Order: sequence, then C-alpha cells, then structure tokens
Amino acid sequence: MEQPQVTPQETSELLRLAEAALSADGDFVELGCYRGDTSVLLQKLLVSARSDKSLWLYDSFAGLPEKTAEDASSAGTAFRGGELFVTKREVVEKFKKQNLPLPRIKKAFFEALDPERDLPGKIAFAFLDGDLYGSIQTSFRLVVPKLSEKGIIVVHDYNNPELPGAARAVDEFLAAHPSFQLSQHFSLAILKPVVLY
Ligand SMILES: C[S@@+](CC[C@H](N)C(=O)[O-])C[C@H]1O[C@@H](n2cnc3c(N)ncnc32)[C@H](O)[C@@H]1O
Repeated sequence: MEQPQVTPQETSELLRLAEAALSADGDFVELGCYRGDTSVLLQKLLVSARSDKSLWLYDSFAGLPEKTAEDASSAGTAFRGGELFVTKREVVEKFKKQNLPLPRIKKAFFEALDPERDLPGKIAFAFLDGDLYGSIQTSFRLVVPKLSEKGIIVVHDYNNPELPGAARAVDEFLAAHPSFQLSQHFSLAILKPVVLY
C-alpha cells in the first residue's frame, strides 16, 4: 500500500486547525489533493460539525508539473514531472465508498484556474500541498485575496529537503506580506493573517 503523503502528526494538527477555521467565513480548499486522503478527512470534519461550508479540491490529475530551478535539491531526484498521477475518478470513488458528500473537484493545473470562476468567494481554510515552488506560489496568488479575516493557510513540505521550493515560496510570501504570521508544526507551515482587535 502507498504511504500517506501527510504524516499522522501532521494530519492531526491539520484537522485541529481546520476545526478552528470552522468559525471563519468561507469554504475549505485543498490545492493538490492527489488521492483525496486528507480531503476525505476534511469532508468528514465538515459533516460531523454539520457545517454549511463546502470543500473544493484542485489537482491536475496528470501528476506534478516539471520542477524549476527553485526546486533543485541535492537530497534526491524524486518528485519528477508526471509523478503522483491519479485520476479524478479515483478521488470521486473514495468519497462514494465512504458515503460522503462529493466535494467540488476541479481538474486543472493551478496556473490555469480562474479565481472568479473556479474558487469560492471566501476561504476559511486552505491546505496548499502542490509540492513545488511554482505550484505553491500560484496557490498563494489564488487563495490569499479570498482568505477571510480569521482564515488559515497551511502549506505542506515546509521542512522537506527533497522539496525546497515549497519553503522558498512560503518564505518569499512572508517577506512580501508582513501582515501574515508563521508558525510551524513538523513539515506544516501555518500562516494566519494578523488580526487587530
Ligand atoms: C503531495 S500530493 C498531495 C497530497 C494530498 N494533499 C494528501 O494530503 O494526500 C501533490 C499533488 O499536487 C498536484 N499538483 C502539484 N502541482 C500542481 C499544479 N501546478 N497544478 C495542479 N496540480 C498540482 C499533483 O498532481 C499531486 O497530486
């Protein structure tokens, strides 16, 4: 059986943060859903909380794009273009098997998404798991303008030496957006807008 992409410790922190985001305005999004393992847990949370929020999932369903110079790593050559290929149907079947409401699932490279047409009007919780510099950078561009005041962004692979582009995209984002504060839990970068009361 394939290893989960997110460790159990990360998953429990992710769900704790998602639960905290239930009180924020807007929907939940996951950019880079792959087989839907985390997506199913987010949907279960929404169902058990009787939330009226929707879950929106995004993936190329064609595997990873090619790495760019920012992703170069001496720690290994995994995560090549086309790796992590799954079909949208596999994700749909996973939700059906678990009797869960189907999320909105968009098959596209993030770079081709239209924020007005393809993303919710407001976002309460965003899980960015596109692995690569360009994918995380694009995810920020799509999500941040829609993030509600008490919204939370979680980026995976913040300390993964095989995927240095993810941390680079986070650090560059933070340098350009001092209104966000960072905390870290294992490989999760947790970004929250600084809310002044
Ligand atoms: C590590 S997997 C996601 C794992 C998933 N979040 C989970 O918790 O199980 C990364 C996914 O991001 C997708 N991805 C990466 N960059 C992308 C891009 N620019 N556009 C669309 N999908 C992308 C890949 O196809 C892959 O399925």
